[in-house]
Amino acid sequence: MNLPSKAKSDPKPCLVEIEGISKSFPGVHAVRAANYGLREGEIHALVGENGAGKSTLIKILTGVHRRDRGEIRLRGRPVSFRTPLEAQQAGIATIYQEFTLVPFLSVAANIFLGHEFTERGLLNHRRERREAAALLDRLGGNFDPAVTVSELTVAQQQIVEIARAIARHSNILVMDEPTAALAPREVFNLFDLLRELAGQGMGIIFISHRLDEVLAMAQRITVMRDGVTIATRPTADYTRLELIEQMVGRSIEQEYFKDKVPIGKTCLEVMNLGGGMVRDVSFSVRCGEILGLAGLMGAGRTEAARLIFGADPRKSGAILLNGHQLDISSPHDAIERGICLLPEDRKAQGLILSASIKDNFALPNLKSWSRLGWIYQRREKERFSDRVNGLNIRLASQDQRAEELSGGNQQKLLIARWLEANTEVIIFDEPTRGIDVGAKYEMYLLIGRLAAQGKAIIVISSELPELLGICDRILVMRRGRIAGEIIDVGSATPEAIMTLAV
Ligand SMILES: Nc1ncnc2c1ncn2[C@@H]1O[C@H](COP(=O)(O)OP(=O)(O)OP(=O)(O)O)[C@@H](O)[C@H]1O
Ligand SMILES: [Mg+2]
Repeated sequence: MNLPSKAKSDPKPCLVEIEGISKSFPGVHAVRAANYGLREGEIHALVGENGAGKSTLIKILTGVHRRDRGEIRLRGRPVSFRTPLEAQQAGIATIYQEFTLVPFLSVAANIFLGHEFTERGLLNHRRERREAAALLDRLGGNFDPAVTVSELTVAQQQIVEIARAIARHSNILVMDEPTAALAPREVFNLFDLLRELAGQGMGIIFISHRLDEVLAMAQRITVMRDGVTIATRPTADYTRLELIEQMVGRSIEQEYFKDKVPIGKTCLEVMNLGGGMVRDVSFSVRCGEILGLAGLMGAGRTEAARLIFGADPRKSGAILLNGHQLDISSPHDAIERGICLLPEDRKAQGLILSASIKDNFALPNLKSWSRLGWIYQRREKERFSDRVNGLNIRLASQDQRAEELSGGNQQKLLIARWLEANTEVIIFDEPTRGIDVGAKYEMYLLIGRLAAQGKAIIVISSELPELLGICDRILVMRRGRIAGEIIDVGSATPEAIMTLAV
């Protein structure tokens, strides 16, 4: 990735100045005396661990939350938006971590919602679709603007969100984890576009847990820790490890974790799997083995996982566990037999946002689990605290509603729940999406520990260095089929995977 040209001698005029912002929620001091500035034509990253206060800070800027203290100036003028709409009208477009699309409207309607093209009082659908198609094309979204949003994958929905923000001609763009659901090719397209927008004077607030992106894209980086903005510096002043250390507040030696685990007999065998876009997929995973599944968005990785898990109907093929053919026609069957899937769209497919954290954890939806018996409240509590500590989930209390957790902590909560299941095969679909560096490392440790227990593990990830860092073997999918296999992971490169994937 090319570094964008650095600003010349004179800094550009300020678009946004945030000074001494504080915000408390019951039991949490989410943001304390935070400072941040955004200049014209600048991409300014905001980084920090899960729960550091990044989303809260931008939600204050964009009128979602009220601040307790502090000042915000837009082009030098003090402002205080009471609603997201007011912020939008002042030229701030925001892509939140949680999607805000209307699921039952078309892609085009979502993009131009509130900014429809009208002609003599009538909606001009044709123009809307045409412009939407042009935008999607620019973003590398190869889907029809006429389909309804509910039919799209997470990654496609994210592209629609971005298209919508761009369609509004805003001069400030706030992106909270814009690339979390995108594959390398889409990220690449997005970055080209962001640079182009910045070149035209747009200021971009960029929140991401993918530090390679932050380092490649941003001219400046502000680090937040425990609600405080602890430093703002030009990107060139940071090395990757320095940045990580500043985020976590301690020194770090390595990013990935891979233990030497003896690899046992074949555990899961998938033969000629087909269904949806997936064609003739065959592979096996052995006990203690971590198998990576790489590929571009839409390559069929998630689809294959869902077929194995019984979440989508299988058209052909067989699934064997320890040599015995399984009859899986629903996730319930899969869980019974010891196969579990941690889905990519964790919120839609798992968390009950309005329920307490504790209840989300203990939700007795797994047979094997209730067999363990949740009779002993005390044990449940202990396990819960263990998991919370083990995954470093930040919460004010167990009785807090799940929706009050930061995005990354919600994901960790779901992971914690699934880890309670007694399974032989665990499929992780983008397990580290949206979680911070520290938590990622914890996740790698955890995956490693599960492998050491003899479980067969499949990891789907769009972060190629991650797959290379933690897997024993990598399969690359392309257009619903297996396009290649990387056996010698130690000496493989991201480029080698990409070559197989495109
Ligand atoms: N509506 C809310 N009610 C109560 N607490 C909240 C609410 N929103 C956020 N918090 C708390 O404020 C803190 C900061 O959360 P925030 O979402 O800003 O973190 P973040 O830096 O965006 O994290 P992530 O990287 O996980 O998205 C967290 O402890 C979170 O639980
Ligand atoms: Mg957040």
